[in-house]
Amino acid sequence: MIQLIRGFKDILPGEVELWQHIEKTARGLFENFGFREIRPPILEYTELFARSIGQDTDIVEKEMYTFSDRKEELITLRPEATASVVRSYIQHKLYAKDPVRKFYTIGPMFRRERPQKGRYRQFYQINAEVFGSESPLVDAHLIFLLVTLFSRLSVPDTEAHINSLGCPICRPKFKEALVDYLSSATGTLCSDCLRRRERNPLRVLDCKVPSCREVMAGAPSLADFLCPECSSHFSMVKESLERLQIPFVIDKRLVRGLDYYTRTTFEIQTTFLGAQNAVAGGGRYDGLVKALGGPDIPAAGFAIGIDRLAEISGLNKNDFEANPDIFVAAMGEESTKKAFEWSCALGREGIRTEMDFSGKSLKGLMKRADKLGAARVLIVGEKEMQDGSVILRNMATKEQTSIPMARVVQAIQELFKKD
Ligand code: HAM
Repeated sequence: MIQLIRGFKDILPGEVELWQHIEKTARGLFENFGFREIRPPILEYTELFARSIGQDTDIVEKEMYTFSDRKEELITLRPEATASVVRSYIQHKLYAKDPVRKFYTIGPMFRRERPQKGRYRQFYQINAEVFGSESPLVDAHLIFLLVTLFSRLSVPDTEAHINSLGCPICRPKFKEALVDYLSSATGTLCSDCLRRRERNPLRVLDCKVPSCREVMAGAPSLADFLCPECSSHFSMVKESLERLQIPFVIDKRLVRGLDYYTRTTFEIQTTFLGAQNAVAGGGRYDGLVKALGGPDIPAAGFAIGIDRLAEISGLNKNDFEANPDIFVAAMGEESTKKAFEWSCALGREGIRTEMDFSGKSLKGLMKRADKLGAARVLIVGEKEMQDGSVILRNMATKEQTSIPMARVVQAIQELFKKD
């Protein structure tokens, strides 16, 4: 039997309802705050991701699904959505009428990482991106949106981690100091970090290997290198979060795995997912629109991992099981024909209707209605047809009422209106 590709998964009925609920809640919240939906494609030119996420990141170096199409152009299954949203913002000049735009997008992403709990090769994100404002209030607002959404979804025990990565003025000075520090600590870094030290030294800060952690304990701190503008920007983010009564942790190691960030970065972390502890991550990326050929417009955003969110949400999957309102149990050829008409009409009127077409006995049909958790059963037998009426049974109270055949749909509709 052909199986799933490793790291990919099916989201099955039962689970899908929870996902739909998560997506619906997110859409509702975004709409409350003026975000508009945007749907970029899943395939883009490889260069878009290489230039935005960064050549020396793990994602671009080793995790992208890249292949050449028939015209030998290199294309990639998107590993994230921000680059595509920025491309779209520039390509369609979405800034022309008003540079301040707020977008959200929901969909699958692809990264060829080593699969484990909470880490898949196709996973889903809810993304939010805000263009056109440098204000630290935007950063605080994005964190507020995340915290609000997680509370609406009953997600327990999350913690907002924040940091500032500075800007192109102050970060190079920090990088220099970090490289100096790292060159005196060669022997104890892992092989990945030895490579990173040359190409992307900031990433050494968030390495989880214990020996690297030990080395980094004495490393210089980015906070001491922030220029006055970055420093006051970060202070304002913190102050705004305090005003909104959102608890946060300042996390000097939070450098994130994508190179486009400037100033604020943040993650929502949880203790429930083991090593994959980030349910959402984001930050400011003031230079990206310009770097991809657009005007000099600042931006910030976040992405939530839906797979991880669904795993930790306190909502019970069973809460979303949709049981039928009515099960139509018909016996005999003529009754089945008439009952089929009624079942179609009931469904058309918005009543969740099920019918069994396998010609079971009444006992078999009642068993099936019970298994499906139907609230009521419409019993249509030859005898009832001859009498000109059918029976409606309430499965909870066992109460049975007789309905004249001429007004079956109408009577059931009235009943559900009353409920
Ligand atoms: P990211 O931190 O790479 O950021 O991903 C955001 C979230 O996606 C993570 O916190 C995690 O929940 C989920 N995620 C990432 N990789 C996987 C995986 N392999 N399996 C399951 N879930 C995963 C970004 O993607 C940025 N584009 C966020 C952003 C938007 N920054 C600014 N705007």
